[in-house]
Amino acid sequence: MTGRDLPKFQTAIPGPHSKELAKRLRAVECSQITYISDRFPVFWKSALGANVCDEDGNIFVDFGSAFGVQGIGHTHPRIVRIIQEQSEKLIHGMGDVHPTELKIRLAEKLRDITPGDLSQVIFSSSGAEAVESALKTACMYTKKAGVIAFEDAYHGLTYGTLAATHRLDFKEPFLKQIGRFVTHVPFPDSYHSPSTSKSGFDEILVQVDKRIKSRWEEPVGAVLLEPIQGRGGVAVPPDGFLSALKVLCEANGVLLILDEIMTGFGRTGAWFACEHENVVPDLLVAGKGMTGGFPISACIGSEQIMSAWGTSGGESIHTSTFLGSPLGAAAALETIRVLEDENLIRRSEQLGEKLIGKLRLLSKKHSMIGDVRGKGLMIGVEIVRDRNSKEPGAEETTQLIEELLADGIIVLPCGPGHNVLSITPPFVITEEQVDYAIGCLDRRLGERMPELTHEPFSN
Ligand SMILES: Cc1ncc(COP(=O)(O)O)c(C=O)c1O
Repeated sequence: MTGRDLPKFQTAIPGPHSKELAKRLRAVECSQITYISDRFPVFWKSALGANVCDEDGNIFVDFGSAFGVQGIGHTHPRIVRIIQEQSEKLIHGMGDVHPTELKIRLAEKLRDITPGDLSQVIFSSSGAEAVESALKTACMYTKKAGVIAFEDAYHGLTYGTLAATHRLDFKEPFLKQIGRFVTHVPFPDSYHSPSTSKSGFDEILVQVDKRIKSRWEEPVGAVLLEPIQGRGGVAVPPDGFLSALKVLCEANGVLLILDEIMTGFGRTGAWFACEHENVVPDLLVAGKGMTGGFPISACIGSEQIMSAWGTSGGESIHTSTFLGSPLGAAAALETIRVLEDENLIRRSEQLGEKLIGKLRLLSKKHSMIGDVRGKGLMIGVEIVRDRNSKEPGAEETTQLIEELLADGIIVLPCGPGHNVLSITPPFVITEEQVDYAIGCLDRRLGERMPELTHEPFSN
């Protein structure tokens, strides 16, 4: 496996080893966790670049970077080496008690690559924890508990973040234990609900403003959003939305928290998606692509805002066992260097443009593609039953994903209707691998609805 391979098959997909492992897993893991069907999943054994090899020796192309994490590619040799080297020195430290120099170096690097005056950090392990750090920081700084978040937002599944995550199926069993400090307003969505206003988002700003000024509800301290919604269906707001929101927040003394867990570290063709609009958030949350796969996350803010926490008097009121992990910090620093040395953010931008162009061409041929949207290598392909009614093709999307897996392409669904193909490949994916995947999508869509492929597929 070179990382640049096209899929190669030794067995049917999933192969006998994966099927056997699925049975063993079913017996020992809570059955809510891993989805298992006759056609899903394949058990991963190794990975390199854009390739994944399963337990049966089949090679796949990862079109999702394993949840958007592996921008620099799987098992990058420099990350392997740095983790090996660091683990011979110190694997685990005492993050908030006897720290490491590595933690300082990573914090300094984050200060350098994030925009504006973002300069102080709170580290954690998962994305949700980092969002929690931001929610708590905003509460500390503004002394206001209310938060405005957006419909279809995904910020994690811990109790604090569940309040901000919008999808009801994630929340319903726990509603009685979830805080009620979040108000959700619509996310500007020019595909599903085109706005009648010129900007495409004026009505939403009015709703945000009204909620901030409401005297009858919890005073609002923060607006929390993803600059491009990921799990919510790769929803890209119209140009100008983020900057208008920032102006509105500033005018009202409300903090703007940007959850860049999915969009950060080059995914959208910039270090952070807020750079596309020159917006500096009050708090920026990062995770996923920050390391070549080691779990570490961060909430970054200005010194002024972070100082609201006060100084530790010996026992921090906000910490965790693995905070600032030496292995994670070393891996993150090396990931940032790899992104720089290999010019991968530019590649994400350029390859993303090409890929979006190719997918839009494909949409001319297949009316099951309702929309193609995205920035950089964060792309959504909306699968619909009927282009006019935009009726979501959820079942069709599930089947497509299973069919693509059988073709050696790993891709996942997203969106409230479970009908958007989430295309977030490693930035190192080759054009040949991309073209192979597009060819498979073309063929599979053609097989599903040949009667609808009446439009000419031309350049
Ligand atoms: C935008 C966003 N925020 C938060 C999270 C939660 O991160 P984690 O799963 O690491 O807790 C995710 C994960 O998909 C995400 O995409």
